[in-house]
Amino acid sequence: MRLLPSLALAASLLCAPALVGRAAAASAPTPAVMPAAAPAPASSTAATKDAFIDDLIGRMTLEEKIGQLRLISIGADMPQPQLLKELQAGRVGGTFNSVTPADNRPLQQAAVRSRLGVPIFFAYDVVHGHRTVFPISLGLASTWDMDAVERAARVSAIEASADGLDMTFAPMVDISRDPRWGRTSEGFGEDPFLVSQCARATVRGFQGTSPANRDSLMAVVKHFALYGAVEGGRDYNTVDMSPMRMFQDYLPPYRAAIDAGAGGVMIALNSINGVPATSNRWLLRDLLRKQWGFKGLTVSDHGAIDELMRHGVARDGREAAKLAIEAGADMSMHDALYLEQLPGLVKSGAVPVSVVDDAVREVLGAKYDLGLFADPYRRIGHGEQDPPDVDADSRLHRGDARDIARRSLVLLENRNQTLPLKKGGTIAVIGPLADAPIDIMGSWSAAGKAKHSVTLLQGMREALGDRGRVLHARGANLTDDPRVVEYLNFLNWDTPELVQDKRSSGDMIEEAVKAARAADVVVVAVGESRGMSHEASSRTSLALPGEQETLLKALKTTGKPLVVVLMNGRPLTVNWAKDNADAMLETWYAGTEGGHAIADVLFGDYNPSGRLPISFPRSLGQIPTYYNQLRIGRPFTPGKAPNYTSQYFEEPLEPLYPFGYGLSYTDFSVSDITLSGQALQRGGNGHLDASVTVRNTGKRDGEVVLQLYLQDVSASVVRPVKELKDFRKIALKAGESRVVSFPIDEDKLKFFNAQLEYVAEPGDFNVQIGLDAANVRQKTFVLR
Ligand code: NOJ
Repeated sequence: MRLLPSLALAASLLCAPALVGRAAAASAPTPAVMPAAAPAPASSTAATKDAFIDDLIGRMTLEEKIGQLRLISIGADMPQPQLLKELQAGRVGGTFNSVTPADNRPLQQAAVRSRLGVPIFFAYDVVHGHRTVFPISLGLASTWDMDAVERAARVSAIEASADGLDMTFAPMVDISRDPRWGRTSEGFGEDPFLVSQCARATVRGFQGTSPANRDSLMAVVKHFALYGAVEGGRDYNTVDMSPMRMFQDYLPPYRAAIDAGAGGVMIALNSINGVPATSNRWLLRDLLRKQWGFKGLTVSDHGAIDELMRHGVARDGREAAKLAIEAGADMSMHDALYLEQLPGLVKSGAVPVSVVDDAVREVLGAKYDLGLFADPYRRIGHGEQDPPDVDADSRLHRGDARDIARRSLVLLENRNQTLPLKKGGTIAVIGPLADAPIDIMGSWSAAGKAKHSVTLLQGMREALGDRGRVLHARGANLTDDPRVVEYLNFLNWDTPELVQDKRSSGDMIEEAVKAARAADVVVVAVGESRGMSHEASSRTSLALPGEQETLLKALKTTGKPLVVVLMNGRPLTVNWAKDNADAMLETWYAGTEGGHAIADVLFGDYNPSGRLPISFPRSLGQIPTYYNQLRIGRPFTPGKAPNYTSQYFEEPLEPLYPFGYGLSYTDFSVSDITLSGQALQRGGNGHLDASVTVRNTGKRDGEVVLQLYLQDVSASVVRPVKELKDFRKIALKAGESRVVSFPIDEDKLKFFNAQLEYVAEPGDFNVQIGLDAANVRQKTFVLR
């Protein structure tokens, strides 16, 4: 266990939101500023934008230009009076972490009072909701419903822009195949296609029809690139990866967000094949700008330019600043190196002023696209509209939160139709996460407030009303290790995240067993505190922490039906629960309305339709378990002798739960595949249709996710065993059947070959359609 850093270091590391002082925030009337930078036309062409920005840059001093490259962390970088001075001197480009119009307005007022009156922008980590907290991204991906994913982002943008914010550091689209990594919770899972779809939907939701809209946020996709592949799942570690894997699996989601119009890109903290992303000219100039044609803003991650010295690629701050600006890191988040070093670097000729100008052009371009030159108060307003209570419940979108949350829940087990529960009798609601308003929000919960969260206990009580009785016992702490408690409570100075029950674990379990004995059914919420699945929260075990499994085993001895509700930000090795629970529901961290949504599913008011966006391993040793692995020469074949095949001899090779898996309260059958033809012609515009008939064979209406996978049977390089290429979520009434067709064109067959050309090669392809990655029908066609 690491020693806790001192508070001073903690402040410098602070990424969590902080508010500017109230006194400074007192709303003053907007001064009638006459910015020397004439307001930009509200709507304009690329040419007028360029002309406007060129003119502005032409009138800026070097100091003012460098000022535009500074992204200031409110509450961590400098005291408010100093910040106001810096703003008025035109030495700040944007800020992040202040989240109310009243807090932000004085900052903008100071900026527009500067010599050229260049406005600043306000950014924040709006990742899965703002005031209303939606399920964590892994939960959003579990919906396999891109309208829902887009809606969550749209509502977040409406709420955050109403708080005076212009920009969000999201979507986070790092592919994660190692659940030891705590930030797995922030991303959309393991699959390039699904994550790319979520990336697009999220950018659409944030930016709406234009980032200039009053209710839009500019999306800054992160963390470019490959952050999810850090070695050993240890946060901030190195990434060493073949170019083919990079292009095929890890880069597509960033590209998808950029193609959807994301205005910004945040640069990852990791190195890539020996070169930190922050100083990686190939990544930021050749790939991002030249190859992909990205025209927006790049921002470094928190303190990352400084960290170039710790990576050992820069001798000192001067070299770090030079490397970063030359590589293409436009804005520097939190560290002061651009401010301190760029003047000297430019004056000595070590860095051409044109390099600084290019970076400034992107910062000004983002502000222009956000409509801030036309009106610096576009989102902050002038005070008359400020909400009397920024935390008022009336500012939330509870209906959307509940609807989206219930779509995100994944039913993993349901023996003997334990679920749905009857609304009656006595239900014991047990577990350290049963009544956990902070945890249910998940990490990076923006301006969400725990007091607004509906916990599972509350949701169950409300759903049951006076038709039955709810008993409650905590049953266990989330961890019993004081060092872990201390680690997770780091930085939460006001309210510790983990509040330990001081009783012995035996006493807590005894109380829970007593409640279970008195009940007809036991619902037990176990998993991780939200801080356990967060930045800098890598784990060496994927087991339920603390005494939680002991609690489950004790509850099982009562003989009462045991319903396990998981709350966690990464796949867990819940083998015992898989085999012994009567039902198990994966709920991730379901957000503000989580408790209502979970109760809706447990009582059958909503038929669960979520599917896993990431495979669940059986054990830590089995990692990685992602489904789209490359083919090998000695594969293990189920049912055949395992000797001299690629597997582990102690346990089965298949994951605990495969990618795409999830149950419903009804059943679905999928017919054999019908192909509209046997061959596809290369170079043509044609396509084949692969169709199946899917039938709801059960007694309830429900939704099913049909998944299309392709396998290239033989190619010039080793290809994956299968790859998701399309999916469709459809609602079917009980007994209803429908033909579902997936068009397959040449594009779907393309991949990056050894020369990194994106090509389709002639030959056979297996097309698979099914209900998860391991449960498919198959047919073959040929590309000629
Ligand atoms: C550091 C994190 O890595 C990044 O995701 C976040 O956007 C910034 N801090 C700002 O909070």
